[in-house]
Amino acid sequence: MYTTGAAHLSAAVTGGASLGTVGTIVALIYLVSAAAFVIGLHLMNSPATARRGNQLSAAGMILAVAATLAKIVDDGSITGVGWAVMGSGALIGAVAGQRMARRVQMTAIPQLVSLFNAVGGGAAAVLAVSSFVRLTEVDHRSLSGRDEVSTVLDVIIGAVTFSGSLIAAGKLQGWISGSPVTFRGARALNVGLGLAALGGAAALLAGTDSLAALIVVVIAALVFGITMVLPIGGADMPVVISLLNSFTGLAVAMAGFVIDNSGLIIAGALVGASGAILTKLMADAMNRSIGNIILGGFGTGDSAAGFAPDAGGSITRLSAEDAAIQLAYAEKVIIVPGYGLAAAQAQHELRALGDLLEGQGVTVSYAIHPVAGRMPGHMNVLLAEANVPYTELKEMDEANPEFPTTDVALVVGANDVTNPAARRADTPISGMPILDVDRARRVIVIKRSMGHGYAGIDNELYTLDNTGMFFADAKAGLAEIAAAVKALVGV
Ligand code: TAP
Repeated sequence: MYTTGAAHLSAAVTGGASLGTVGTIVALIYLVSAAAFVIGLHLMNSPATARRGNQLSAAGMILAVAATLAKIVDDGSITGVGWAVMGSGALIGAVAGQRMARRVQMTAIPQLVSLFNAVGGGAAAVLAVSSFVRLTEVDHRSLSGRDEVSTVLDVIIGAVTFSGSLIAAGKLQGWISGSPVTFRGARALNVGLGLAALGGAAALLAGTDSLAALIVVVIAALVFGITMVLPIGGADMPVVISLLNSFTGLAVAMAGFVIDNSGLIIAGALVGASGAILTKLMADAMNRSIGNIILGGFGTGDSAAGFAPDAGGSITRLSAEDAAIQLAYAEKVIIVPGYGLAAAQAQHELRALGDLLEGQGVTVSYAIHPVAGRMPGHMNVLLAEANVPYTELKEMDEANPEFPTTDVALVVGANDVTNPAARRADTPISGMPILDVDRARRVIVIKRSMGHGYAGIDNELYTLDNTGMFFADAKAGLAEIAAAVKALVGV
């Protein structure tokens, strides 16, 4: 009875293929891994459980890898040289990945994720090509219809992800211009690439099993990945990276079909789906469509431009002492962090100032806009690094009703996410939900100049009567204000 039930289950997991005992156990382990991935993703919904979610998903992946190795041993399908190649590849990859992840600056996470996407998409495409060569050139067998479709999709999505992600990482790292890179004939080139890929794919789907056709598809997809990402503004890259992350998942799922591995199909589908949901959420929070972002030309993240501190509209300049007086004598303060906090790595100084004010009996909380910073959850990660308690963090919907009863909104390196221009029609950020800091009794803004944020427009908040500007680097400025508060209250 048990064996029959397990066989049914494994057949369900493997799409009906019949398995031996090891195969059945492996299929069951994949099922356990899949459950760990799903529960892990669910736990990542909240900062309080996210760490456990990560650990559970990693444990699921370790199980899946161990099960796959057991299956390979059982098949006896790999030679000593094969083991050596696989072992050294895994070792180099694990050591390099671990070192990069440990050393990376928080602000460089998007480019690291992009490199990981490139590796994932590239590996999926290479797997499809090697499986194709083994079947057709070594074993002299022909591909089934299912294999043809999954191979074509795998190489196209995987190769686009590989080259596109490398360009995205290069743009964010500053190796390639962050501005949209366009050139004459780009559209014609893209049409040509599309036709070449379609031609190669059609030849493969017609059952030619032609290696030359596969190579044409790979080359066309690789070049298309480059021409797709080059015209996109550097600051749009986080959304593009999330999209490419979703592509990586799809390519991996296709690779699972190519080599008949349900573990890859499940893991790939989960990455594909969660990446797609994240991309949509990010685009919605910026009030832009994914198509609009991919078509590019908007937002390079260059904050150098902007009206000079003394030009146009009148602004109120504050000194550290002015800011200290407003903060120390407030009852309720809401802190609004933004990209500048990350750029200055000022999270510890921010926490120290928050603690100092709380010590004076001020109620302090932190309002988090969903797209503050340059990557999803950017502010949450920064504040968690400084051990700001989760209970003090407020999502936008929770924070906005609080501003009218707030004495001081302290804006640190945030710009677009506080710009009241979003409430009017016909501005580049119209319709983007913002944090209503202008409704607080007083607003203190800490930034270095009147420079623009990501959207490249003036912030109407800065010229309001209740706003005071404290021009400073966030790290140095917060430390100065904290020193002034200490001097004021005598601690
Ligand atoms: P931004 O609007 O980009 O503004 C950041 C501000 O930080 C700049 O105006 C800059 O002004 C200031 N700044 C930079 N370095 C600083 C430093 N060392 N010390 C103090 N201030 C510094 O940031 P935001 O309000 O967080 O909004 C995020 C923007 O990025 C949104 O438009 C969003 O749509 C976009 N975006 C977000 C994401 C995600 S997923 N978070 C992804 C892509 C795009 P100064 O130069 O004058 O100092």
